[in-house]
Amino acid sequence: MSTIYQATASAPVNIAVIKYWGKRDTKLILPTNSSLSVTLDQDHLRSTTTSRADPSFERDQLWLNGKEDEIKPGSRLETCITEMKRLRKEYEDQNPNEPKAISLLISSYKVHIASYNNFPTAAGLASSASGFAALVASLAQLYNLPASPSTLSLIARQGSGSACRSLFGGFVAWQMGSDPSGSDSLAVQVAPQEHWPQMHALICVVSDDKKGTSSTSGMQRTVETSTLLQHRIKDVVPWRMEKISKAILERDFDTFARITMADSNQFHAVALDTEPPIFYMNDVSRAIIALIVEYNRLSVEAGKGYKAAYTYDAGPNAVIYALEENIKEIVQLIVSYFPQKPGEFKDVWGIFGESAADLNTH
Ligand code: DP6
Repeated sequence: MSTIYQATASAPVNIAVIKYWGKRDTKLILPTNSSLSVTLDQDHLRSTTTSRADPSFERDQLWLNGKEDEIKPGSRLETCITEMKRLRKEYEDQNPNEPKAISLLISSYKVHIASYNNFPTAAGLASSASGFAALVASLAQLYNLPASPSTLSLIARQGSGSACRSLFGGFVAWQMGSDPSGSDSLAVQVAPQEHWPQMHALICVVSDDKKGTSSTSGMQRTVETSTLLQHRIKDVVPWRMEKISKAILERDFDTFARITMADSNQFHAVALDTEPPIFYMNDVSRAIIALIVEYNRLSVEAGKGYKAAYTYDAGPNAVIYALEENIKEIVQLIVSYFPQKPGEFKDVWGIFGESAADLNTH
């Protein structure tokens, strides 16, 4: 009887508070600025991926939510699988006598990979981030590699830039790095979720329509045409990264909220500064901004400081960061202004909650 080599890993979605938008190298996926995100630990915002290696497999194959997805030559998917096999091969060469439990030829076997998202892929909720993170984590497990999450982030990054941040839980920075090879463009944990467990994220699904301009093509157009982007990457993001990291370490929600909202605003301003302009938010997104601004204004007036921070990615859905003590009030506020039809997902509100946490591989 032959041994079965199989491993499963899961990774959650992350939502950036300092946005990644722009590449200096499109093949290696090296960003024009560092970014920072919170990894959500919600059970229903995860990708779970099972990988199997077997000498009888004739080619690498991947199924996404049960449907086969072609692994095209030169694609990001192929790059990630090839890079993981290369890591395994390196390990085999360096440890010729070590792992008895696993075939030393496993890096030459073809792999079959099945990945599931437990949330709608089209909802604009960063499925590529959790997807590539889970893919890389499951192959690392399959290959029994002692690689750190930062090392794995170098490979997940080449699947989708934001995926490198989903290798860690909690508050995670993607350091842009400076080496042309990309060897220092990786994710590091700023603080684990337990550092600030009161931090919650409310995800408000404004629309689950597939977005008009993908992040990949949109950000490249911005790099080519926006002068505002040059100001952002040189004069704004570096100090914001420092300031928000400090705010996280000091559990300073007021500063965290101000920077998060300012960075979301600037990202959408940069999208508007692109030729032709890109609009990701819609009227409902803007109405939510107005509501949060007013809510914070009243709170500041009452001497309580900021209570909520909105942020928007490349789509109209809002993510609201807030401390646990204020979540109930915020949910009530949002539901009273934007009533939801129960059970309906599209064009109404889905509020998924909640907190941030660690990557869970098993
Ligand atoms: C707005 O990581 O999806 O969500 O690297 O081309 O796959 P590619 O782009 P992707 O871009 C994410 C953009 C963003 C901001 C962020 O997550 O930092």
